[in-house]
Amino acid sequence: MQTITSYQQQIEDALKNKKYGSDPKELYDPISYIMSLGGKRLRPLLVFMACDFFDGNTSKAIHPALAIELFHNFTLLHDDLMDKAPLRRNQSTVHEKWNNNIAILSGDAMMVRAYQELCMSKSNSLPQLLDIFSDTAIKVCEGQQYDMNYETISKVSIPQYIKMIELKTAVLLGGALKIGALLGDASEENAQRLYDFGKNIGLAFQLQDDILDVYADASKFGKQKGGDIIANKKTYLLLKALEMVEGNRFMKEELHQWINAPHFDAEEKVIAVTNIYNFLNVKELAQNEMQKYFELSLTYLKDIPVTASKKEALIAFAESLMVREV
Ligand code: IPE
Ligand code: IPE
Ligand code: MG
Ligand code: MG
Ligand code: MG
Repeated sequence: MQTITSYQQQIEDALKNKKYGSDPKELYDPISYIMSLGGKRLRPLLVFMACDFFDGNTSKAIHPALAIELFHNFTLLHDDLMDKAPLRRNQSTVHEKWNNNIAILSGDAMMVRAYQELCMSKSNSLPQLLDIFSDTAIKVCEGQQYDMNYETISKVSIPQYIKMIELKTAVLLGGALKIGALLGDASEENAQRLYDFGKNIGLAFQLQDDILDVYADASKFGKQKGGDIIANKKTYLLLKALEMVEGNRFMKEELHQWINAPHFDAEEKVIAVTNIYNFLNVKELAQNEMQKYFELSLTYLKDIPVTASKKEALIAFAESLMVREV
C-alpha cells in the first residue's frame, strides 16, 4: 500500500508532463492554465486509493485518474462561467482572464481530452469504465441544470436540493471510486459499495462547500466569498433559512427582499444574508446534515471484505475532507 503523498506525487508528475495542444493558443492556453493552478486533486486520488483498496496494480490507475481530473476541471470552467465567478484557486477564472467563448470552447476541448485520456487505459474493463464515466458526466450536467433552475425558483425542497448536489457533485466522487475499484479487479458488488460510500461522502463534501462559501477564511479560500448568496443559490443554508424565517415576519421580509432585489450592492447583500444565517444558526444545521451523510457513507464500507487498516486509511482521508478549508 502506498501513501497518499506518493499518489499525489504521481498525479502531479503526470500532469506536469501533459500536453493538451498548442495551436490555436486561445483554445489550449486556458487548459494548461486551469490544470496548473493546483486544487486538491481529490478525484484522481480516489481512483488510486480505490484501486489500492482491492490490492490492484495502481500503475493502471493513472490514465483514468487524469481523465477524471480533466473532466472535473472542465466542469469548473463552465461552472465559473455559469456562476459568474471571478476567482478560482486564488486566480482569475478563465472567462475573466480570457472571455466567455474561450471558457466554453476550451472546456469542450477538455471534455474531449478527458475521453482520450481514459481511452489510453489498457484495462480490459475499458468499455465498462467508459460507461461509468459517461453516466457520471451526464449526471453532472443534470445537476448543474437543476442548480441553475433553482436560482430562480423560490420553493425548493431539501430532497430536491440533495438530489441536485448528488448529481452535480457526489456522483463524480462515487464514479472515481468505482472506476478505481474496477481497475483493482473488485467485484461489481464491492465496486458499487465503494460508489455508494463515495456518493455519500460527496453529499457531505458539497454541504461543506456551501458552508465554506459563506464561512471560509477568505485568506485561504481561493474563491469569491458569498458567491452563492449573490446568485441566490439554493444552498442548504438558504433553504433552511427560508424555512425558519416563516415564523418571523420582519426577518422573512428582509430575506425575501434580498432574494428578489433586481439591483443590490453585492457586499451589502452578503453581509445582510450572512447575519440572518448567523441569527438562525443554519451553519450548525448544515454541519449536522454533513455529519449525517458522512456517517451514512461508512455503512457502505462495512461489508467490503478488505482489511480494517485499509478501511481506516480511507475513512481517515474522508474525515480530512470534512474539515477542509478550501
Ligand atoms: C470544486 O471542487 C467543485 C465542487 C464540486 C464543490 P473541489 O473543491 O474539489 O475543487 P479543487 O479541484 O480542489 O480546486
Ligand atoms: C460545483 O458546485 C459543481 C460543479 C463544478 C459541477 P459549485 O458551483 O458550488 O462549486 P464551486 O463552489 O464554484 O467550486
Ligand atoms: Mg455552481
Ligand atoms: Mg461555482
Ligand atoms: Mg460552491
